[in-house]
Amino acid sequence: MRIKVQDGFEWGTSLQDIVVPEGLRNKLASGVDYIDSALGGEGFTPSAVTLFTGEAGAGKTTMTLTLADQLARAGNTVVFNTGEESLLQVKMTADRLGLLGAFKVGGEIHVPTLLKKCDALRNTPKCKGKPFFLFIDSLQCMDDGHYPDGQTNSKSAERALAMFTDWAKANYTNPVVIGQVTKSGNFQGFGSSGMKQIMAMTDGGFKMIGQTM
Ligand SMILES: Nc1ncnc2c1ncn2[C@@H]1O[C@H](COP(=O)(O)OP(=O)(O)OP(=O)(O)O)[C@@H](O)[C@H]1O
Ligand SMILES: [Mg+2]
Repeated sequence: MRIKVQDGFEWGTSLQDIVVPEGLRNKLASGVDYIDSALGGEGFTPSAVTLFTGEAGAGKTTMTLTLADQLARAGNTVVFNTGEESLLQVKMTADRLGLLGAFKVGGEIHVPTLLKKCDALRNTPKCKGKPFFLFIDSLQCMDDGHYPDGQTNSKSAERALAMFTDWAKANYTNPVVIGQVTKSGNFQGFGSSGMKQIMAMTDGGFKMIGQTM
């Protein structure tokens, strides 16, 4: 996978001269045991991009709202950005689920603007230095900003994901990306090899399977 990380190290730096910031070594537990365990035991790795996929109605929004709530309770800065639902709908779902809701919400679909807003929030005195989680519901809704008139094409979701990945690696932030898969198992908006490509661009993921009782 190609990433454009601006980490400030010159080409040819001795590996021994690279000091890893302490914050990058500390895993970020969500408090949802089976999620933390599936992420290697202790939770999210700083700067990792995590994917939640599943067919329409599989429970992606419900699961990720619950996770956002837990991460916010644990003291992280959390933003749940949705292009799928109105913020009133999100509020009603959160109330129904009994969430505390101490996380930020927004409906910005233009990726460059969203990342600027997140950077501004990250740098406020209240949030500075805290782990930062950005939930994106869903990747298919996002405008990567490639076309000035907001048009998207079959490459938009991939470009948007690359932007989230680059941002995460450069700033040690944690995007949690929600994406729909079609009934045939393909990532919506991508070709038949799309799912593999997406998996290669992310650090870990969950596939949600809805069950009818
Ligand atoms: N764990 C669960 N147990 C029972 N019902 C659930 C569970 N998770 C979600 N649901 C219900 O399933 C429905 C779909 O959930 P949700 O909106 O979270 O799915 P989604 O994958 O985000 O759907 P979409 O692809 O349309 O955005 C909702 O009515 C929700 O209340
Ligand atoms: Mg949803």
